[in-house]
Amino acid sequence: MRTHTPLDVTAIRADFPIFGEPMRGGRRLVFLDSGATSQKPRSVIEAESNFYFKNNAAVHRGSYLLAERASEAFDGARSEVAAFLGVDSNEIIFTKSATESLNILAYAFGNSRSEFHLKAGDEIVLSELEHHANLIPWQQLAQRTGATIKWFSAREDGSLDLSDISSIITDRCKIVAITHQSNVLGSIPEIAPLVAAAHAVGALFVLDACQSVPHMPVSPRELGVDFLAFSGHKALGPTGVGVLWGRGEILAGLEPMLFGGSMIESVTMTSATWADVPKRFEAGVPNMAQAVGLAAGLRYLSDVGLENIHAWELSLTEAALAGLKAIDGVRVLGPQGLENRGGVISFVVDELHPHDVGQVMDQYGVAVRTGHHCAWPLIRKLGVLGTTRASFYLYNDMTDVEILLESVTAARDYFRKR
Ligand code: ALA
Repeated sequence: MRTHTPLDVTAIRADFPIFGEPMRGGRRLVFLDSGATSQKPRSVIEAESNFYFKNNAAVHRGSYLLAERASEAFDGARSEVAAFLGVDSNEIIFTKSATESLNILAYAFGNSRSEFHLKAGDEIVLSELEHHANLIPWQQLAQRTGATIKWFSAREDGSLDLSDISSIITDRCKIVAITHQSNVLGSIPEIAPLVAAAHAVGALFVLDACQSVPHMPVSPRELGVDFLAFSGHKALGPTGVGVLWGRGEILAGLEPMLFGGSMIESVTMTSATWADVPKRFEAGVPNMAQAVGLAAGLRYLSDVGLENIHAWELSLTEAALAGLKAIDGVRVLGPQGLENRGGVISFVVDELHPHDVGQVMDQYGVAVRTGHHCAWPLIRKLGVLGTTRASFYLYNDMTDVEILLESVTAARDYFRKR
């Protein structure tokens, strides 16, 4: 059994200036919406602002000192992201978001002159757990190419029903794109059999790792996936930066989605050829300060330790699950225990609309996400209007769990009395 260092949450919270902000009525901020975006430590805010204070220039263009410093900072950020994932630096593409990362891939599979080009009769396999960002780009690709969408159903416990795996992933399948952790339920589907089935028929596997990379150790090479996307702002980094990782030899055969400066090898008045990866996918002056900020965020996570963060989130989840289930009228959706899950809990309270629940919780300083969580097919499958979702991170503590439970009880009581 692995041992984990308990997190020094008091010290961690002191690194995040936002926790000094009073909420309504002077209450403490109980931030349980890290599934949507994380808060930022001072080191990230400083890394981003220091780039502007000291190093700002367009990378890979100028021959002056500042341009050199900016390029070093940006290239250094790429190397840090690569080291964090255990992959090669030239396989890391900086995008504006995970959404953009997934769109770049979906576009490439409909636009490539190579064997990666999808055509009518091909199949794309998804799951009912997918966030819209890992669903709609593939729907659009299917519509453009005549390919067909197939999917794995979600079970009530948040796992995927893999009983029909061989009839869903067939030799017509070209792409399997699945989330590593449900943003709604926190469940972690079994990836290994899906990767194996995809590869057995020559399909490529895309992992949406937005909810896993910031919270637990994730190695795309160990998982055996072909592509991985995550967003910077959920991993302590700034907004405006995401990552697309892909196996170098496959990326080299894909067409870019954006065209312009810096992504070319040679240009005439009527044609152009592309630079190598990653430059090919980073047209224009890139998000340099944001990439540098993201590297600082990943450094912070590595210093605390991803194993420790995951273990701590599960401790908080265990306490919150027990407390929520003990509240009459509350129903927890998805996984009921700690098996194959991260620190995300969705629940419903009586027959209340989640927005009403969230508004009362806000009176207690509690920030949760309410609604369909950009995963409408899953919400429909669950048969609810939406959910209230609490998502934990390294800066949450047991006091946050207590206030969560107090605020949920208050929301229930407020509407029951009316
Ligand atoms: N994808 C983010 C969430 O689930 C915004 O909240």
